[in-house]
Amino acid sequence: MTQGLTGNKKARLVVLISGGGSNLQSFIDASENGSLNAEIAAVISNKVGVAGLERAAKADIPGIVMDHRAFDSRQEFDENLAELIESFNPDLVILAGFMRILTPDFVTRFLGRLMNIHPSLLPAYPGLHTHQRAIDAGDSEAGATVHFVTPELDGGPSVLQARVAVETGDSAADLAARVLGYEHQIYPQAAQWFCQGRLVMQEGLAVMDGEALGENGIIFN
Ligand code: GRF
Repeated sequence: MTQGLTGNKKARLVVLISGGGSNLQSFIDASENGSLNAEIAAVISNKVGVAGLERAAKADIPGIVMDHRAFDSRQEFDENLAELIESFNPDLVILAGFMRILTPDFVTRFLGRLMNIHPSLLPAYPGLHTHQRAIDAGDSEAGATVHFVTPELDGGPSVLQARVAVETGDSAADLAARVLGYEHQIYPQAAQWFCQGRLVMQEGLAVMDGEALGENGIIFN
């Protein structure tokens, strides 16, 4: 076995959610079946009562709510969130449907150990309503991209991208459902590469096995 990021120990992850947590579930499943050599130390949600917290509870993972509405500013929320995350000593922080824009201070603090999944073929369509925008543009393909997070919204270097054909008559919801199935495959895979020490962010680039990746990252197939 190759020497991983944390030697023989499992890497520690903290997962941030705001909703259903189906991506969180893919991490729980992958860590349970051994395809991801990591332990989820905590799940943090900025929303009360979301299904992702039930998934965490079922898997005996501590689930914590930090409601952004309890803070006076974005800066204050992010500072408290960062402290909470650090208290779990994570090797990697996973944004899994965490619907908050993060301050540059927060991102800088976790730079190189903060990942996100975005439902588009980045660098196309940062921001919201990605599937509708792909349909409206008449694109033949849509998809999802795992990327390292930098202060620019959905602008960090791409790691792994799944491409899904847009079918005639697809609604945004149809497309989102098909893409989500791929998200569950590519996100734990990218995290596993990181945990193995094969994937790093260096000088603003995603580097896999010593080679800088291009603007779309690795294409999943
Ligand atoms: C996913 O589509 C993800 O790409 C986006 O938010 C959604 C989260 O879904 N960032 P879930 O909460 O993981 O089910």
